Amino acid sequence: MSYRPRILIAGAAGQVGRELQRSFADCGEVICHDCDTVDLADPDQVRAMVRNAAPQIILNAAAYTAVDRAESEPEAAMAVNSTAPKVLAEEARRSNALLVHYSTDYVFDGSKAEPWSETDQPNPLNVYGASKLAGEEAIHQVGGRYLIFRTSWVYGPHGRNFLLTMLSLARERDELRIVDDQFGAPTSSIELADATSAIVRGVLDGRFGSAESWSGLYHMTCSGSTSWCGFASAIFSRAAGLLHGKVPAVKPVSSSEYITSAKRPRNSILSNEKLHVRFGVRLAPWEAALDAVISRLTREAQAAEL
Ligand SMILES: NC(=O)c1ccc[n+]([C@@H]2O[C@H](COP(=O)([O-])OP(=O)(O)OC[C@H]3O[C@@H](n4cnc5c(N)ncnc54)[C@H](OP(=O)(O)O)[C@@H]3O)[C@@H](O)[C@H]2O)c1
Repeated sequence: MSYRPRILIAGAAGQVGRELQRSFADCGEVICHDCDTVDLADPDQVRAMVRNAAPQIILNAAAYTAVDRAESEPEAAMAVNSTAPKVLAEEARRSNALLVHYSTDYVFDGSKAEPWSETDQPNPLNVYGASKLAGEEAIHQVGGRYLIFRTSWVYGPHGRNFLLTMLSLARERDELRIVDDQFGAPTSSIELADATSAIVRGVLDGRFGSAESWSGLYHMTCSGSTSWCGFASAIFSRAAGLLHGKVPAVKPVSSSEYITSAKRPRNSILSNEKLHVRFGVRLAPWEAALDAVISRLTREAQAAEL
């Protein structure tokens, strides 16, 4: 690909944003913004950020992701998760740029027995899910060239996530109580960024035809599924080296025994068929993706000890 677009990454310091920086480094000129350079809760700052960067591609990895805190801060969640994406979509449309945005499994209520598809009716159980759904709808309404990737249970080598929380708790406790009746697909930030990069490069190369044929909403998660308890057990079965053998016991508990401010869906599993059929892309099985993240953490820990 000889064309080198200008690529704006919003939320560049978040867990997905950091991996997008890596995946897109050789794709074009990358311009990064995060909360130290812009407040996305302010629409004027969102507009100014885009106009100053004049990008051909906008990757929006920023979000208000504090699911429980959002219950008491609905306006803050809506500003970042709904109003900011709307302004990004307007700016993208104005300049014919491509907008890539991420959304969440928490738009669903979890009541279905099978994996959720893009045509299923959302019904968020919490403020975070409602704010992310409002963001999706705002982008649809504005139109233009856009890709919305709904993903789930995101974790990776950096940032705030379940994997790093488990590793840190393992150093302090001998037993951890983990919810065993919510099911989903743990999805690594590495897989998400690499799949996003492959699709965007295909779009730039014209491999997927005109925007009318690819613009829209897609589910994008690692394949397979587990419970949070299953995820924790898989982490500890692989992380003995990182934890110098101090692996805690994992005790399964039900959601009713582990009360949080925000309700969470029982079944969060998303079907990725549409993504595969349209773009020929499949993310790795969640266990293989976890292996890759643990390997990266192990290499980084070894390098830090040298
Ligand atoms: N994490 C998950 O389990 C999960 C699951 C499904 C979908 N998703 C979606 O995946 C995408 C990426 O999530 P992630 O896990 O990478 O999130 P993350 O690690 O929390 O990163 C989000 C980034 O956005 C920044 N941000 C938040 N409010 C901002 C504001 N007002 N102005 C400027 N920057 C702001 C954050 O900065 P601060 O850290 O300083 O606030 C952070 O760097 C999001 O759309 C999220 O909704 C995530």
